[in-house]
Parts: sequence; structure tokens; C-alpha cells
Amino acid sequence: MTDKPIALENRAQEGNRLFSPSAGRNKAVIADWLAAQLPPAARVLEAGSGTGEHGAALGERRPDITWQYSDPDAASRASQEAWAREGWPKPLALDLAQEAWWSGLGRFDAVFCANMIHIAPIEAAQGLAAGAAQLTDTVMLYGPFLFGGDSAPSNLEFDASLKRRDPRWGVREWESVKHIFRNAGFNRAERHDMPRNNHIVRLSRH
Ligand SMILES: C[S@@+](CC[C@H](N)C(=O)[O-])C[C@H]1O[C@@H](n2cnc3c(N)ncnc32)[C@H](O)[C@@H]1O
Repeated sequence: MTDKPIALENRAQEGNRLFSPSAGRNKAVIADWLAAQLPPAARVLEAGSGTGEHGAALGERRPDITWQYSDPDAASRASQEAWAREGWPKPLALDLAQEAWWSGLGRFDAVFCANMIHIAPIEAAQGLAAGAAQLTDTVMLYGPFLFGGDSAPSNLEFDASLKRRDPRWGVREWESVKHIFRNAGFNRAERHDMPRNNHIVRLSRH
């Protein structure tokens, strides 16, 4: 992990529950999409869960799902615990850049990760792919991506601002993300447009 801030925005707080302005804007569209994709009684691991609002929004739509939150950051895990539905397991301290972070976790119907791979060194994305290959057949990623010369200007500006904070950060090229996951065995990649030049992606083995 870096010593950089884990969020680029000011989070409001009520008790242990943190509120992310960006999650407030995107959680409904993400949860609607996930709710339509996940099988009945799915067990899902979320990596880099942040405040925990995405899992909570999905839980409102799909109370049958068991959501495993995780984050290396302790304050984020406390917030996730405060947002969790009854019966959900305790959030895990998982750092995707650590070796074998997936060890002993068992199997999941899907691994979900939002807005993490651009705000961490590329090793976190590589670790996500390597670990997901041990845990699941389906990965769902949400966030901004670059598409070479067709990249949205706002994402190019965001990329430059991230690199000013930490040269290892940056909005990732979609082709390089596909390559990382293909190397880990996720051969199929479906991409869906989301508001404000974000995408949600489903990576699977077949
Ligand atoms: C911008 S926040 C996104 C939080 C949440 N997923 C969302 O979309 O609102 C990035 C999150 O990734 C986590 N993160 C950063 N580096 C990580 C790593 N190496 N492994 C796992 N999580 C990491 C941070 O702690 C933070 O919670």
C-alpha cells in the first residue's frame, strides 16, 4: 500500500458509516446492473470496497446475496461493517498487491472491484487478476478506462491529475486491462457504458 490518501474526495461520516460523494452518484446504476447479473444467492467478494455503499445498495435490491467486503484501510472496513446487512461476514483486510492475498478465501460466484485499479500501482490490478483466477470464474470491474485516441477528454485529464499525485497511478488503457485478465485466464470481456464516461466490465473464462 502507499501512504497516499485512500480517497480523492471528502467523505461525510455518520457513526462509522462513511459517505463517498462519487459512490452516492454511481451506486444506484452499479447496483441495478449487478442485481441483474448475479445468480440467486450469489456469494460475492468485493475488493477495495471503500465506504461500503456499493454492497449496501446491492443488498437492498438483492437481499439473497452474501457480500464479502474487503479493503486494506481500517477506517474503510469499519464503515463497511456499519453498512453491511445482517449475516454478511466481517470485512477482510485484503491488499491485492500482497502475494497470495487470496489464500484460504474459498470460492465466490463473482469478484467485484470499483474505482481501484487507477488509484493504485498497476501491481494491484495484476494482483486482482491473479487472485480472482483462484477464487472465481467471473470478475466485474467498474471505473474509467482509456481507449487510445478515442479516450474521453475528462478521463485524459483525470489520468494526468492522478499521475501528478503519484506517477504509478493513472486511468488504465482498456486493452492493457483486458491483457492482464486474459493472462490470468479470463478470456472473455464484455464492456458496458455507464454514466460520466465510466464503464462496467464483466470478465469471464469462456
Ligand atoms: C477510490 S477508492 C474506491 C472505493 C469504492 N470501491 C468505490 O468505488 O467507492 C479506492 C479503494 O481502493 C483501496 N485500495 C487501494 N489500494 C489497494 C490495494 N492494493 N488492494 C486493495 N484495495 C486497495 C483503497 O483503500 C480504497 O478504499
